Amino acid sequence: TSSSSSLTMKTLTDKVMDKASAVLTQILGGGVAVKGMPVAEGDASTLFEQALVFWLHGRCMELGPVFKLAFGPKAFVVVSDPIVARHVLKENALSYDKGLLSELLEPIMGKGLIPADQETWKKRRRAIVPAFHAAYLEAMMKVFTDCSQRTVDKFESLLQLAEDGQRGRSTTAAGKQNDADDRVEKEVVEVEVEMEREYSSLALDIIGLGIFNYDFGSVKEESPVIQAVYGTLYEVEHRATFYLPYWKLPFADKLVPRQRKFQADLKVINDCLDDLIERARANRQEEDLEALQQRDYSKVEDASLLRFLVDMRGEDCEDKQLRDDLVTILIAGHETTAAVLTWGTYLLAQHPHVVLKAQQEIDRVMGEGERARRRPSLQDLKDMQYVRLVVAETLRLYPQPPQLIRRSIAEDLLPGGHLGNPEGYKIPKGTDFFVMSYSIHRNPHFWDDPENFNPDRFLTQKSGQGIPGWDGLDPQRTPTALYPNEVTSDFAFLPFGGGMRKCVGDQFALMESTVALAMLLQRFDLRLRDPPETVIPVTGATIHTKNGLYCRLRRRQRD
Ligand code: HEM
Repeated sequence: TSSSSSLTMKTLTDKVMDKASAVLTQILGGGVAVKGMPVAEGDASTLFEQALVFWLHGRCMELGPVFKLAFGPKAFVVVSDPIVARHVLKENALSYDKGLLSELLEPIMGKGLIPADQETWKKRRRAIVPAFHAAYLEAMMKVFTDCSQRTVDKFESLLQLAEDGQRGRSTTAAGKQNDADDRVEKEVVEVEVEMEREYSSLALDIIGLGIFNYDFGSVKEESPVIQAVYGTLYEVEHRATFYLPYWKLPFADKLVPRQRKFQADLKVINDCLDDLIERARANRQEEDLEALQQRDYSKVEDASLLRFLVDMRGEDCEDKQLRDDLVTILIAGHETTAAVLTWGTYLLAQHPHVVLKAQQEIDRVMGEGERARRRPSLQDLKDMQYVRLVVAETLRLYPQPPQLIRRSIAEDLLPGGHLGNPEGYKIPKGTDFFVMSYSIHRNPHFWDDPENFNPDRFLTQKSGQGIPGWDGLDPQRTPTALYPNEVTSDFAFLPFGGGMRKCVGDQFALMESTVALAMLLQRFDLRLRDPPETVIPVTGATIHTKNGLYCRLRRRQRD
């Protein structure tokens, strides 16, 4: 009896505790029920077993397209439905701000576009969007190809070294140069490369040159500024995943070593950017201004975004704001692109038929012999539809960031008719949202065979057209768009978000990724060093690998 009564006591205590925590959760806001919306109770311990986004994706598949997640005192509405996403991001965007994301990023990005309040954002968005016009993007093709060429050259020289080494060994062994040369021709030389790191350097070099006309030169060597950029990104990630915001405590920035390092890193970046801004202001030229006004980049030596912002909008912007914008773009445009290239490579390595089809397209467009060694032009890029779709399909499976964060700043009513809830979901002011791009992109109601890597799907998918309130996939909805987007997919594909806070660098990023992939695929074949399941995805601001993406790279074997 004593054991059964202690069991009863334990069950009772558990129940009381459960009730107490439920009441506490209610009081603190975690449990405010939303009519018609399932509730998931989060167990913090399971969170440490896998990245939050993968855990959330599992709940999305289990609980459906809109549910509420109660995590102790915290509560989130989690959305994996394109129609609700369209409402939050576009149709009623003014009722939402960036909430938690702004809190997290403000120490680094200040009032830069991503965390900015609506008033600042409106002004700066108006200044920055015109800087990404078509003539600028065309001028950027030179930066994309120059930087990708550095990576190609680096791989070529690694292979050359390995081939020389092998030739040396064979010569010593065989004692006869001719025999050895024959053997080298037959044996395929491979080198091991950690591709995530290479792509990170490549993307950083591109963003440095494209945005500030500053050469980080990180494909070749490391500089203190790069170290500082990685340091701050690492800290953002730490803050995003750490439960208690201890860095807000007084003196934490002076007493906690990692916070001291963070402040020091910020100073390195800010000093570098201040210096660049000062130089750009000092070198302001009237002729440049005229050329920029006419969008004639052939006459401008420095085509960077900073040049445009200083020349065209210089007067009405303080240095601090300009620096916030630049650091925002530096961070927003670097890891994201690196992640696309990393996961694109990961997927390609497992789908040789996709690689073959892409390489056939690249050969057809770039031509043979000497001609093939030229840098791809904008026209070439336009002619490489399949490579562009490889980039888009990578972004479908690995959107960066994998979820968008919002907070309601007014009451709202989410559409629910298409989900069997005709009254909709009433949302109180102050509700935090995860709009799960990752899960929307893998939602089987909207995508045929969603886990499969199939770049052609954007052109061939037929199903999903009967879903009420969803317009389906239709590349013709914006016939001039080079890439699928949230319009051609009616918000089922939203790697750059949608509505007024949509990414300003989307075309920059897509073109840069396509150029880099095309130039690498044209010359090299690669395979994963380890089985694909051992490449563990982890998330911070983006999805990256836990231990790097190790590949074996070889020169392309042509017939
Ligand atoms: C915003 C994705 C590259 C600059 C965003 C957003 C997404 C995104 C999803 C919207 C965030 C939200 O709604 O909460 C990506 C991806 C990239 C990429 C996947 C690479 C493949 C770039 C590049 C730049 C850039 C290259 C600049 C050169 C920005 C800025 C914003 C933004 C400034 C904030 C826009 C605003 O709030 O008005 N990006 N981005 N991004 N991105 Fe990108």
